[in-house]
Amino acid sequence: MTNVIEDILETEGIRIPKHIGIICDGNGRWAQNRGLPRSLGHKAGTKPIETITNLCFKLGVETLTFYVFSSENWKRSGDEVIFLMKLFSDFFIKLRNEAGNNIKVKHIGVFNNLPNTLITEIKETEISTKNNSGMVLNIALNYGGRLEITNSLKKIVNDINAGNITIDKINEDLISDYLFTSGLQDVDLIIRTSGEMRTSNFMIWQSTNAQLWFTKDHWPDFKPHHLKESIKHYNRKNI
Ligand code: IPE
Ligand code: IPE
Ligand code: MG
Repeated sequence: MTNVIEDILETEGIRIPKHIGIICDGNGRWAQNRGLPRSLGHKAGTKPIETITNLCFKLGVETLTFYVFSSENWKRSGDEVIFLMKLFSDFFIKLRNEAGNNIKVKHIGVFNNLPNTLITEIKETEISTKNNSGMVLNIALNYGGRLEITNSLKKIVNDINAGNITIDKINEDLISDYLFTSGLQDVDLIIRTSGEMRTSNFMIWQSTNAQLWFTKDHWPDFKPHHLKESIKHYNRKNI
């Protein structure tokens, strides 16, 4: 990992994306390829989240978002969903214990249908890391881009009805302020693993200028060198 950091930082003129979004796909296939249950793929997928979080922090990335459960993922089997919810609860506890003074953890998405234990862990983690001044780590869980825009529209209409804003105040910046990512910069680089070339309802408003990078490798196999390649790819974009 140290070599990768040095390699990236020593590359002349390299630009580090301010906001990286990662669509962590392929946990199920990773497990199936090994004759294991899908759940073990999800468990293995937590490891690269930790490694890549540390790496991005050291590189000076300002915002890192992991898309781990979409608003469409409720269609999965009951057993898989229950396993994931428990895994996410444990993961939020781990995040707040290891965030130090550096990482501000935020949930983006909605609480509807999430188990109470998970909601409690999310809130606890957000509260205990809220004064951290380093990187923002977003966990997109029960998240969907259309859902986010729909929510923001409702909040805007409510504020108009309450007399807090007038219609002429609506512009692109105001809409951005009503999204879950309010106050954060748009995503600069989107990474998706597992060979699927789509963005599955991820940050549809915030990604109009994002560079996209795909790898055939599955998420549990994601390594620092993948991040390095994606950052090099990002640097091909002219600004
Ligand atoms: C991504 O891996 C994790 C979640 C969406 C929860 P998948 O579970 O989608 O794995 P594949 O795509 O079926 O291999
Ligand atoms: C996309 O993965 C969403 C997440 C990684 C959380 P999916 O595996 O659910 O997406 P599709 O259905 O293949 O587009
Ligand atoms: Mg998938």
